[in-house]
Amino acid sequence: MLNTIVIKKKLKSFNKKIIVSGDKSISIRWVLFASLASGNSIAQNLLISEDVNAAIKTVRKLGIKVILNSKFCKIYGKGIDGFKFKKNLTLNAENSGTLGRLILGLLINTSNPIKLIGDKSLSTRDFKRISDPLSKFGGNFKLKNKRNLPLTIYGSKNLKPISYLENRGSAQCKSAVIFAGMRANGTTFIKAKKSRNHSELMCKHLNLPVIVKNKKNYDLIKVKKVKEIKPFDYKIPSDISSSAFFITLTTLSKNSKLIIKNVNINPSRIGVISILRKMGANIIFQNQKTYKGEKLADIKIEGGKKLKAINCPSKLNSEAIDEFLVIFLVAAKAKGISYFKDLAELNQKESPRLKWGSKILNMMGVKNIITSSSIKIYGNPDLEIKKKIVIKNYLKDHRIFMTSVIASLSFGGEWQIHDKDSIKTSFPNFLKIINELKN
Ligand code: S3P
Repeated sequence: MLNTIVIKKKLKSFNKKIIVSGDKSISIRWVLFASLASGNSIAQNLLISEDVNAAIKTVRKLGIKVILNSKFCKIYGKGIDGFKFKKNLTLNAENSGTLGRLILGLLINTSNPIKLIGDKSLSTRDFKRISDPLSKFGGNFKLKNKRNLPLTIYGSKNLKPISYLENRGSAQCKSAVIFAGMRANGTTFIKAKKSRNHSELMCKHLNLPVIVKNKKNYDLIKVKKVKEIKPFDYKIPSDISSSAFFITLTTLSKNSKLIIKNVNINPSRIGVISILRKMGANIIFQNQKTYKGEKLADIKIEGGKKLKAINCPSKLNSEAIDEFLVIFLVAAKAKGISYFKDLAELNQKESPRLKWGSKILNMMGVKNIITSSSIKIYGNPDLEIKKKIVIKNYLKDHRIFMTSVIASLSFGGEWQIHDKDSIKTSFPNFLKIINELKN
């Protein structure tokens, strides 16, 4: 039972300032870009978690020296072609879709076949969405069931540029193609549905030949062969997706106030804020600034406001993709019936999250109707849970664990939540911060 948490009480109101850990998407991208730089780069506040560690282990296996301690991470980049592609190399992306998918773009010129493996959850996920476009550059792939890990990538030294339409709103697909495009001879054209743009902003900061034109519903990206990446230091801002658990908890808690310091509020990531504001939540950005193209702010939340249901515009889906589980909790307490649609992608995450969202609401006694891509949630502003709820067998999806903790602290009941270890992938400090709110 050591890996199980039992929560029997709602959280009392709080008034606090907190700092959450570094952004996962930016941390992984920094590790990958820095490992290709010609020289040494240092990051501060890099997220120290299993996903980022997997990225560090991966670049080390490709011959890059990395020093990681509690104060900084230093990467000794060996240049754009500095990876050593040893014979019989196996790389392990563990639980990280971002690492597993992005790294394939960088391995497209490998001189020896490389095997990519992952944990149980990652091995259920779709890698055909990456191998399809990358094959067009001239690489070859062998995938389990033509779709999954383990896969083997066979690279090519003579890569042709491609034209690629990314229409899922997946930053992982878009970024993998940008990375491969950086290695191809010629110009790669990408038309991409809007999704998080950290890769593009890093390219811009590094002055790489990656040009982005923002259109209303999509972006046009041109990528040319990259000759050199200059080393670059980075102070990683706090993660909005990790902050979202505390934004929700405060929103659902009467008389509570919270400030979360120095959070990345990149417009392509703040769907959760737009949605919760539309539902009546009080969330304010303070001390806004820009750092290497990324927008940052302190986020101030005041809880206990009247919440109303939302018919959620699907254009916010990509911006809020990692936060729907906690958004569903807010819908459970809102007045009226909320509707979220075009969310098939949510079932493609570390676990089928749309199904799990519905399952958790059912366990909480909240009526909901789910299809393969949508959910209707019948909210109840007086929601109080009195029963015992057990959350297990969820493929150790970190966000399901943390969402369940927020539900228990917001609505009461007696919760037994298994696989506490899952938070190590993205937010090892999560329970420590919950404890800070108790004192
Ligand atoms: C991520 C992109 C998103 C998101 C994931 C992180 C990234 O995935 O869900 O947690 O860092 O690029 P998709 O690209 O599959 O939408």
